[in-house]
Amino acid sequence: MKHIVVLTGAGMSAESGIATFRDSGGLWEQYAIEDVATPEGFRRDPELVLNFYNERRKAAFDAKPNLGHIGLAEMEADYKISIITQNVDDLHERAGSTNVIHLHGELSKVRSTMDPSLIYTLTTDNSEIHMGDKCEKGSQLRPHIVWFGEAVPMIEKAMKVVQTADYLVVIGTSLNVYPAAGLLNYIEPGIPIFLIDPNEVKATQKGIHFIHKGASDGVAELRELLKF
Ligand code: OAD
Repeated sequence: MKHIVVLTGAGMSAESGIATFRDSGGLWEQYAIEDVATPEGFRRDPELVLNFYNERRKAAFDAKPNLGHIGLAEMEADYKISIITQNVDDLHERAGSTNVIHLHGELSKVRSTMDPSLIYTLTTDNSEIHMGDKCEKGSQLRPHIVWFGEAVPMIEKAMKVVQTADYLVVIGTSLNVYPAAGLLNYIEPGIPIFLIDPNEVKATQKGIHFIHKGASDGVAELRELLKF
């Protein structure tokens, strides 16, 4: 089976109703990154940060996978599919994808601020965390999200996966954030790259096949192209 590695970003979930970050009207027009997505922001105003992620979590729990997520999951019948996502929602998993690496963490999980190995899964019934919600060792809980300035623990694994790709597919990411955007440089020479995005994305790699469509239509077109 050919191995297709798929790198996804916020645009993958846009058709599920989850706002992207850098499009017009995106989240980073409404919030300052340094306030809600950095360790310093959390130290300054933890309640603001917890509430920001409580809102994101609610939006993610209420959303449903779109035809793009579902198409990628269906492709597992014909290909080995590895998804590397920058998204913190679980829409790939809920669509049925079985092999998903979350580079920037997961909204459905929270962890201890004192002991990062203490990770807890939230459900729709207990989906909010607030100041005073503590781990079993008595320290405050925080979102299980990689903030700017923090290490990206899954990047080594993701690099190794990319190196074994027969095809690389990039969907719905502006490729602004490293180290995720740098993963494109780890493919073996000559490996085809498909890039699905309705807008222009600056990617310097040679020979990229651009599919200028949204995620749902773009994945459908990809599946047709791969038949030949
Ligand atoms: P961005 O918001 O930077 O980029 C979203 C991309 O999705 C853009 O290239 C859009 O053109 C594209 N897009 C919009 N609608 C689409 C659709 N229907 N189908 C396909 N693509 C569409 O989001 P990311 O690149 O994912 O990190 O951002 C990377 C990281 O920056 C995020 O993981 C987050 C953010 O800050 C952290 O918070 C740590």
